Amino acid sequence: MKIYSKLTLSVLLAASAAMISCSNNDDETPAPPVKASIYERLGGTKMVADPDNSGQMIEQGRLSFRKVVNSAIGLIVADVQSNAAGNLQAHFAPLLAETGTTQSTNIAKLSDNLTDFFSFNTGGTNAVNTYSGLNMVAAHDPAKNPRMGTKSSSADYTKFEGYVGAAANANGVASNTELYTDIVAVLESLRTPIVQK
Ligand code: HEM
Repeated sequence: MKIYSKLTLSVLLAASAAMISCSNNDDETPAPPVKASIYERLGGTKMVADPDNSGQMIEQGRLSFRKVVNSAIGLIVADVQSNAAGNLQAHFAPLLAETGTTQSTNIAKLSDNLTDFFSFNTGGTNAVNTYSGLNMVAAHDPAKNPRMGTKSSSADYTKFEGYVGAAANANGVASNTELYTDIVAVLESLRTPIVQK
């Protein structure tokens, strides 16, 4: 099963659990509070002005994810350019070997796909969040996605996850919050399909 459909399933299960707990309240036992989705906790469907596209509106949940994704991409590009031992250079080499408009278009596409992916799988139901890229196994297999330079190890994954965590911190999600823990749990659920060596 594709990992994103698995995540979507868990959102649906949470939603149906919420409906059951509402309809099954005859014994006066208070229904346990249902936890809002990560997307809702990041601002949900509230429409706000899009700071990067003048005159356009965007859901706050999607905007929050886009900010985290773009900060994380900035940290990854800096890592790749650092020449430090164990950097992520080999993985992103095809993308960064591109030049000019091609590279910026593809990085913008990656940003958009990552924003869709996170929004769609954490409770963002608006069609604008629909993810239409490769599944996580194919996206991270160089044989299926030539833009993935080499397979990722578990250590690479931990490093990547650290950048996403730092990007979340930089955008107002502190490490000691339940929201941060819940986001890390979603990231951890993707380690198995993405790590392929
Ligand atoms: C939290 C974990 C991760 C998530 C959610 C994630 C998600 C994604 C998504 C949604 C795509 C786009 C697929 C498409 O456009 O069809 C992608 C592509 C890619 N990912 Fe990941 N990824 C993760 C971890 C990693 C790691 C650990 C590496 C390498 C160390 C990596 C390297 C890449 C590369 C090189 C691409 C290809 C870029 C492109 O096609 O534009 N990713 N990833």
